[in-house]
Amino acid sequence: MPAHAPARPLEIAAAGPLRGTVRVPGDKSISHRSLMFGALAIGRTTVDGLLEGEDVLATAAAMRAMGARIDRGDDGRWTIDGVGVGGLMQPEQALDMGNSGTSTRLLMGLLASHRLTATFVGDASLSKRPMGRVIEPLSAMGAEFTASPGGRLPLTMRGLVPAVPIEYTLPVASAQVKSAILLAGLNTPGITTVIEPVPTRDHSERMLAGFGAELTVEPSPAGRVIRIRGEAELKPQSIVVPGDPSSAAFWLVAASIVPGSDVTVLNVGMNPTRSGIVTALRLMGADIEALAEREVGGEPVADLRVRHAPLSGIEVPPDLAPSMIDEYPVLFVAAAFASGRTIARGAEELRVKESDRIAAMAAALSAIGARVEEVEDGMIIDGTGGDPLAGGATITTHLDHRIAMSLSVAAQHCRAPVTLDDAAPVATSYPGFFSTLDALAGVALK
Ligand code: S3P
Repeated sequence: MPAHAPARPLEIAAAGPLRGTVRVPGDKSISHRSLMFGALAIGRTTVDGLLEGEDVLATAAAMRAMGARIDRGDDGRWTIDGVGVGGLMQPEQALDMGNSGTSTRLLMGLLASHRLTATFVGDASLSKRPMGRVIEPLSAMGAEFTASPGGRLPLTMRGLVPAVPIEYTLPVASAQVKSAILLAGLNTPGITTVIEPVPTRDHSERMLAGFGAELTVEPSPAGRVIRIRGEAELKPQSIVVPGDPSSAAFWLVAASIVPGSDVTVLNVGMNPTRSGIVTALRLMGADIEALAEREVGGEPVADLRVRHAPLSGIEVPPDLAPSMIDEYPVLFVAAAFASGRTIARGAEELRVKESDRIAAMAAALSAIGARVEEVEDGMIIDGTGGDPLAGGATITTHLDHRIAMSLSVAAQHCRAPVTLDDAAPVATSYPGFFSTLDALAGVALK
């Protein structure tokens, strides 16, 4: 198993209101897809605003290992010279996916319809995550897998050419599973169909259509029906990646809970399949204003101004779950400072993310003095009514970037500093997180 970076403990203290204007890094989902689809186009794709986090760099390294040329210019623009659908080469070594479930599952799909054998390895967190959800449909398309017990990494797969098109109804609401099948379908003769009973983030559909794939989306009583015609030819694109709403969410909550805060986050992706956190926070009474709403690279984008406001507990609508699945940890933080009770259920997928985010957040919030009850599919939280929490604890972050960042936000309204056992995983999705926190709040970092 690859070693990960040494643990980097970090103590974080509250430093008063957060004020200022910030930019968040590029969207993680769109960044992964830009590299993968660019590598499959014939010709040169350019990408501005790519997230240069460890997860996305793992995808870049894998695409290079299979023959794509990928470079970063001094101006921050990335170029990808693709090899064409079906043109990826046998990697010489195991593909190291680090902490990234998105890289792993989407690449498993992509390679399922290539004539090559690939071994996937990852860190301790990724090696616990279930891959059976992609192994099952990709096996039906003809790929063969040898996985570790429980359908986990390390695993080796052998793709099949020609693969067999399938029609598959998603048993879990997962954009990663949907995307894996669509990517396998790219090099499969005929039509591959995915039916999603519950809509999930639609970046793959939007971007594949933009790259020239024949892809249709239709509503039906069973859900969204997505069809892709295989043996596609992708045309290179010029991509501008919007800011990641999942990264913006930390500032939306931090400014909402710390009195006197006033923060503007520029250029935030507002795709409705991603913006559930804005809806949920507004239901709690958050003061979030969307300014300069516009479209960037086929995605809706806005600048979000958020000012401190008293929050109230809510019953989080479970149908928001897929559009804010990565934002529950920081929503739990907001709820811990709200007045009254928040009930967040119907989010059992949180148990199989980079950590078991229900257990990890229940332990972390309890440790800093919040009143929380862990339930199988979510959490029930009785907030402080706006008062600070005690803090003064060391948090186990379980190699999970979003646990580390959520507790850094909570620390902004705690009486005593909060220590993260390991801040290093933040670099997977938001390398500049702590310097932005420092700039907004003047936090004392040790
Ligand atoms: C992602 C989909 C989500 C999300 C992950 C990124 C994607 O996972 O949690 O951070 O880029 O498709 P699931 O689709 O497994 O819910």
